[in-house]
Amino acid sequence: MPSLRTQVGIVGAGPAGLLLGHLLHLNGIDSVIVENRSRDYVIDRVRAGVLEQGTVDLLNAMGVGAGLQRAGLRHEGLYVSFNGRRHRVDFAELTGGKAITVYGQNEVVRDLIEARTATARALYFDAEDVSVDAIDSSSPILRFRHDGVDREVRCDFIAGCDGFHGICRPSIPPAVLAVYERAYPFGWLGILAEAPPSSDELVYTYHERGFALFSMRSPRITRLYLQVPPDEPIGNWSDDAIWEEMLERMTTRDGWQPNIGRIIQKSVTPMRSFVAAPMRYGRLFLAGDAAHIVPPTGAKGLNLAASDVLVLARALKAYYERDRREWLDEYSDICLRRVWKAQRFSWWMTSTLHRFSDESAFDYQRQIADLDYLTGSQAAMTSLAEQYVGLPAEVSFESAGLPAAAQAVPTT
Ligand code: FAD
Ligand code: DHB
Repeated sequence: MPSLRTQVGIVGAGPAGLLLGHLLHLNGIDSVIVENRSRDYVIDRVRAGVLEQGTVDLLNAMGVGAGLQRAGLRHEGLYVSFNGRRHRVDFAELTGGKAITVYGQNEVVRDLIEARTATARALYFDAEDVSVDAIDSSSPILRFRHDGVDREVRCDFIAGCDGFHGICRPSIPPAVLAVYERAYPFGWLGILAEAPPSSDELVYTYHERGFALFSMRSPRITRLYLQVPPDEPIGNWSDDAIWEEMLERMTTRDGWQPNIGRIIQKSVTPMRSFVAAPMRYGRLFLAGDAAHIVPPTGAKGLNLAASDVLVLARALKAYYERDRREWLDEYSDICLRRVWKAQRFSWWMTSTLHRFSDESAFDYQRQIADLDYLTGSQAAMTSLAEQYVGLPAEVSFESAGLPAAAQAVPTT
């Protein structure tokens, strides 16, 4: 059996795995990335689109921001819509000039795969039977089959970046993991449509028929979401029915509504809050969706994956360069502080903007009052804005080997 050796074995070539691989590369640390899907599948999977200011700064600092600078859409605010009116929340004014950038996860992943390929470090797609072993020893092992050949990689560490359904989290003895979970009684039906966005900024709508979200991917592509029952079969929704419901929920009294176009992709996503703690067992470190899931309303999933791997890269750099282990020991606690704040924010956005099947007439009025307060109070809008653009990073770029100047808000 061909036996390989690396410093960090990375399971999963989603945003977490690819970002970590490149951060390690920039610090001269070797890794092997193993992904069980094909390259095209990983790139084509339609998912998140909102990058926090800190994620944008990170991609730029890593030297992988060219596509983002060319095609990313910088948004200095968003709209909250209810009772037929849109209310703007001005991020730039409320957060001292910060913004979010709309740039599809597909593009982020494509850029990172290109960067990885240019380094000539190992990246295996279409791997089969991926497993990890001896994770509580000083020499954990990553096994998989590729092109019909069984392979074994001896590692110093393994990073479980293999998403919610991966194999790394289940490799940890259940007794040492605490799991915190909440399911929501709805899902999101999402579409991509060939239609120029009719607003320059996102519109989060609360409507008596349920939540709706207007977003975009480019000057020609609109991205829209609808609250639907959980596990709703997408086959229940014809394109005409989707447009009818989108317009019903989103059209405001001043006549604003999304532009209609050919639907080029549609799917339903379940909604879940989930945290597994600690995010480390022995020499296995979980990052991104492998450790935590947020409902998409706060647009935090991809951004949390990025903040986890920044913390992990810093810790691995300190280990290899100075034999310093404290940051490895602190990895889980540092990440979980941010994760729980993002969980709270995502839960709050979700609860505030969706209709719940068991809610009363009182709950409905209270929700309207919540939104009325939110959009009328500078304090409440500041709270939304600072969380939406992203709370300050836990660790400095400099400590992870990146140019300090690239970080808008430096931390320790
Ligand atoms: P992933 O992107 O899931 O990457 C994990 C990788 O590991 C995948 O490529 C997977 O194929 C691979 N893998 C899995 N098992 C194995 C294995 N056994 N061996 C090897 N590789 C393996 N967030 C938002 O902010 N907004 C959204 O609209 C939004 N929509 C989403 C829609 C869906 C359907 C999903 C699943 C997530 C969505 N998210 C959204 C969340 C966001 O996309 C994730 O938080 C983000 O992808 C996390 O990155 P990750 O690298 O941790 O995990
Ligand atoms: C998008 C996704 C989100 O979950 C969100 O909160 C905002 C925008 C998007 O896909 O563009």
